[in-house]
Order: sequence, then structure tokens, then C-alpha cells
Amino acid sequence: MSQTIETNTADYVFHNVPEQLTPLQAFLDPFTRNELLELGVPAGARCLDLGAGGGSVTRMLSGLAGPRGTVTAIDQDVHMIPGGPNITVHTQDLGSGEPLPVSGPFDIIHARLLTHHLDNRVELVHRLAGELKPGGWLLLGEFVRSKPRVVAAPSEEDAEIFRTVLDGLYDVMTATHTHGDWGHHVETTMMDAGLVNTRTRWHFESFHGGSHGCRLLQNNVAQKRDDIVAHGLPAADVDRFVNVLMTDPRMVVRSHEFISVRGQREA
Ligand SMILES: C[S@@+](CC[C@H](N)C(=O)[O-])C[C@H]1O[C@@H](n2cnc3c(N)ncnc32)[C@H](O)[C@@H]1O
Repeated sequence: MSQTIETNTADYVFHNVPEQLTPLQAFLDPFTRNELLELGVPAGARCLDLGAGGGSVTRMLSGLAGPRGTVTAIDQDVHMIPGGPNITVHTQDLGSGEPLPVSGPFDIIHARLLTHHLDNRVELVHRLAGELKPGGWLLLGEFVRSKPRVVAAPSEEDAEIFRTVLDGLYDVMTATHTHGDWGHHVETTMMDAGLVNTRTRWHFESFHGGSHGCRLLQNNVAQKRDDIVAHGLPAADVDRFVNVLMTDPRMVVRSHEFISVRGQREA
């Protein structure tokens, strides 16, 4: 596990480290790419990627928009976002309610796993809807809190440790700004903001011990280890989750629940 890099400038629950963002991208990038290809990112498009994190979707948008297009990436921590000839990167706390450092209109505005962390999420969706070109798309991805599920485990005791520790992580996250249910309200919020052709898609998959998915869960829990223990879970269980269960190929568990929602500004 790497050292935590103290780059967090907003009140965000995690720190951006490769051990978290690389497996997260491996889990979600194929799904997001498919969503973007379905929307169609025109050559020359103006794109905005909010909460860009490790920058994999920034890079995707940069490739799709091509040399005549532009991608603006914004995050409170930009140290992992790649540069590029058509990429501009800004540091901003998007929970502050301050105006964005760049104005629209945009063809595509994307934010994956950002708005469920922000208290101003509803207001931001309305603001972003107003930054779209006629016919432009807003694409938001969120994790929603769901019941931890084990597909297979070496023992029922290990299955129970997995369920209680993951629930402990969700308790710790939702005790701060993170909204566990927000993803279920995104589509109606987009409709309230005047967007049309809205659609929600759900995505779950199984994660095997040692795979990218379990490395994501391992890092999520490792980052919040002390808070989960302070919340009342035995340290030995939290440490077993991180050091043993998430690397054991006999563990097969259900992923975080991902929700992808799109809405279009009327042409
Ligand atoms: C779970 S990561 C997702 C990163 C990337 N969008 C992805 O899906 O691969 C959440 C991102 O949101 C950013 N973030 C969280 N709170 C923020 C805030 N208040 N202002 C700006 N960015 C924020 C974090 O720095 C982090 O990069």
C-alpha cells in the first residue's frame, strides 16, 4: 500500500492514489467508453470532465474529440490527471459553489463518482444543464449504497467479515458528505433541470480476490481503516479484509453498485 499523498484540498473522503484509481478505472472505463460511444462525441467537441481523478475519461474524451476538440478537466486534486495538446486542467473545489473556471456551452459534460460526494449536488446538476449546447449531453456516474453480497468464500466466517467490514466502510462514508442514495435521484434531478432523453443504467459485476475489483475494495477499506475501527468493528476483521480476503482467489464478491445517468439539452 502506498503512502497517502497529502493533496486533498477539499473535504473529500479519500485520497487519490494509483492503488485506488487504477483498479477503479479498470472496473468502470469499459462501461463509460460504451456510454460515450452511444452518445457520440463529435470530432471537435468541447468537453468537460469534472472530478477527473486519474484522468482516464479525460484521455478518452481527448481521443474522441480529436485535435480540433478540447477537454477541460477539473478536480480538487489534479496530480494524476494527464496533460495533452487538447487538455486543460484546473484545480477547484467543486463543492464550493464558485463559478467554473471555464464557461460553456459544452457538447459533453461528464462526472464519474463526483456528485455523490458534494453537498451542492442538486444545484450543480442544474448549473451544468445550463452549460450544455443544444443537443449536448450530461453523463453522470455514481456509486449507490447497496447490500454487500458474497458469491463464494472459504468460510461463512470470512463471508460475514466481508459483509460487515464493507457495510462499515459505507457507514463511515455516508456519515460525512457522501450520499448513499443520490444515484437513484439523478435522473429526476436532470428532468427537473430541463434535460430530455434521460436514461439510467445500472452496473454490477463479480470481483474475485486478487483481481482489480478486489484491489479497489482493498484500497477503499485500507484508506478508512482507522475510521471503520473507531466505528466499532474489530481491527482484526478490518485487517483480515484488507490483507487476506481481498487477495484470496477463493473470495468472490459483488462489486459496488454503479449507476450511470445521461440527459440531453433539447436541440
Ligand atoms: C472516486 S474518484 C473518481 C475519479 C474519476 N472521475 C474516475 O471515475 O476515475 C472521485 C474524484 O472526485 C474528486 N472530488 C471529490 N470531491 C471534490 C470536490 N469537492 N471538488 C473537486 N473534486 C472533488 C476527487 O479528488 C476524485 O478525483
